[in-house]
Amino acid sequence: MDKIVIHGGVPLRGNVEISGSKNAALPIIIASILTEDVCVIENLPCINDVSLALDILKHMGASVRMLGKNTVEIDTKNVRAGSSPYDLVRRMRGSSYLLGAEIGRFGHAHVGWPGGCDFGVRPIDQHIKGFEAIGAKINIESGYIEATTPNGINGSQVYFDVVSVGATINLILASVMANGNTVIDNAAKEPHIVDLANFLNTCGANITGVGTDVIKIKGVKKLHGCTYAIIPDMIEAGTYMIAAAATKGNVRITNVIPKHLDSITAKLEEMGVEIEEHDDSVIVRRKGELNRVNVKTLPYPGFPTDMHPQMTSLLCLAHGVSYVTEGVFENRFKYVDELRRMGASIKVDGKTAIIEGGHPLSGAPVIAVDLRAGAAMIIAGLVATGKTEISEISSIERGYDDIVGKLHSLGANIKKIQEPDTIYLPKAN
Ligand code: EPZ
Repeated sequence: MDKIVIHGGVPLRGNVEISGSKNAALPIIIASILTEDVCVIENLPCINDVSLALDILKHMGASVRMLGKNTVEIDTKNVRAGSSPYDLVRRMRGSSYLLGAEIGRFGHAHVGWPGGCDFGVRPIDQHIKGFEAIGAKINIESGYIEATTPNGINGSQVYFDVVSVGATINLILASVMANGNTVIDNAAKEPHIVDLANFLNTCGANITGVGTDVIKIKGVKKLHGCTYAIIPDMIEAGTYMIAAAATKGNVRITNVIPKHLDSITAKLEEMGVEIEEHDDSVIVRRKGELNRVNVKTLPYPGFPTDMHPQMTSLLCLAHGVSYVTEGVFENRFKYVDELRRMGASIKVDGKTAIIEGGHPLSGAPVIAVDLRAGAAMIIAGLVATGKTEISEISSIERGYDDIVGKLHSLGANIKKIQEPDTIYLPKAN
């Protein structure tokens, strides 16, 4: 079993470059299904979810050619609807975009129910609401979601009951070539949705209003191929900002869009962290003590839910009691038990973690219970006394490009080790 081993106490210093956004790369890779022409996608992060998305497309008949470490050429001319492998699809939430892409290109879809990190119930009722509004008939059977459009795909007006990144993305994919116009009200505004719309418009789509809560999609006949570079990953950037603050470091984080980091920057400054913004980088310094704060996660431009576990690790170091309220998912607190193993004093009351800071963290064997929880354990390990061993690191490698190498280059005492899996057999009595 692979593990990440950290000996804490080293302040991070130097430069780190942010990779392309995972949550922009996944919908854009899958959106390439919408055109029979070739697409070239640049600035892809080297992460397992991107490899998985490309593998799924290959299984569906696409030709996928890496033109470099971070650049891929995709030709989906021969892709067949309904051919995505069930066992691969269920490994990530991003697979749900296959529904919108298959409906948009073929007028029908057949995709296994998507997987993804376990934050409690993750329904797709809003995805279905969007598809039905534009004329799809949905049937869920034997673990598959099936969509047909007997009367074609016809533009419509949809008001989402819940602000949903996935449902917004899926309805954009399904309606870009609809007959007529679609309006999405109460749409999600995340930068990765703007990036998807920019990609699709570069392919000839006609999408306006993305980044606001009303998106307008004028159906076009056909999309052509294009070359497109993914935006930087705001959550990866925020993770390094918190790691620098946690270790009393001084780190320049490059290849970022500072605007995307506004809520993270504001909260860190409230805690007494110094943030210096430049055109495409931020410098994070922390010398003094950290102030306690309250955080509530919300859809963009609010404080990102994907920064919740990392922020809790940081707040363990602040003096006083802080509160982190999860405003997006049902239950994202599985990581708290792992932090308690390291000496953190955290209570969870409903959707709020109550963090009593100032208790020194000590290294321990812990588990990455999901992607961002894994990042939180790394941050805690960077400041804990002694050795922290993190297992189940495949969760981390789904979404962080070379996090061990990048932290090592900042001076962290961190490495990845391979250990034979220990199988515990019952003792013969
Ligand atoms: C995307 O998940 C991201 N995943 C998540 O990032 C991120 O945490 C989330 O958006 C919020 O920003 C990808 O981009 C692959 P939602 P998604 O639909 O689309 C409820 C990471 O760490 N909801 O915006 O699944 C839902 O239960 C991952 O990179 C419905 O009720 O999130 C949740 O409470 C983790 N009905 C809320 O909306 C629906 O039909 C927001 O979910 C859909 C969602």
